[in-house]
Amino acid sequence: MSELIDGKKLAAKVRSEIKVRAEEFEKKSGRKVGLAVIKAGDDPASAIYVRNKIKACEECGIASFAYYFDGNVTQANVMELIDALNADKNVDGILVQLPLPKHIDERAVLSAILPDKDADGFHAVNAGKLFLGEPVSSVACTPRGIIELIESTGVAIKGKHTVVVGRSNIVGKPTAMLLLGKDATVTVCHSKTENLREITRTADILVAAVGKKKFITADMVKRDAIVIDVGMNRDEEGLFGDVDFDAVKDVAGYITPVPGGVGPMTIAMLLKNTVDGAKIR
Ligand code: GUN
Repeated sequence: MSELIDGKKLAAKVRSEIKVRAEEFEKKSGRKVGLAVIKAGDDPASAIYVRNKIKACEECGIASFAYYFDGNVTQANVMELIDALNADKNVDGILVQLPLPKHIDERAVLSAILPDKDADGFHAVNAGKLFLGEPVSSVACTPRGIIELIESTGVAIKGKHTVVVGRSNIVGKPTAMLLLGKDATVTVCHSKTENLREITRTADILVAAVGKKKFITADMVKRDAIVIDVGMNRDEEGLFGDVDFDAVKDVAGYITPVPGGVGPMTIAMLLKNTVDGAKIR
């Protein structure tokens, strides 16, 4: 039986630290730390994420500026707004909720954000600095949260075999880079990987970011491994992770639940990136 990694509890601790830092910033600067959130289209999951992010800002004393476009918005409209927010002194962080409608070039939009205001760490400059191992103010929020969840177990990352299943720009790739920076041995697997089970079974630390309900089964997990479940798969039965939690919990040493694992930490790291950005600027 494994130990549960409580993301909700850990996130609450991070948020209380952020609240103190946000209050200090307000006292010194005479204004609140500010985060602008842009959503375009009607993706139901995005609506929930954005709502939760704005609520978290309020609770931590961060001002939020929300901009909602319908699915027909043009790329030029979004770019214009980003230009205005780049120049706005009350805005410390800018977040563009993904996915954007299909006709919009996501990379172009993300790269229009000033790197210093890139609350998500998705700008090519910040992603590139992470790749080079250079100090970077904004690191992608979910990967940053994953590292804190692993470190909360007290198990050292250094020298461990870490397997990341998923190679997205948002989670898989930046998580692999952060783990490498912590001296882990890193294997990145994906949908074309052959003999996936043979590889995941050798993981001391397994990060599942696949986007498929209960994809990681007990026979794919090494005994006493740390298992981090990034999945948020919603269907008519509810919300499920990428890990078959009920079976894997009997094999793993530590495991994150869904919900209550990675999700709350992603939001806490977004607030951290925003406050860090305010301080730097
Ligand atoms: N869509 C899914 N995850 C994320 C995230 O962490 N940030 C943004 N901006 N969009 C997302």
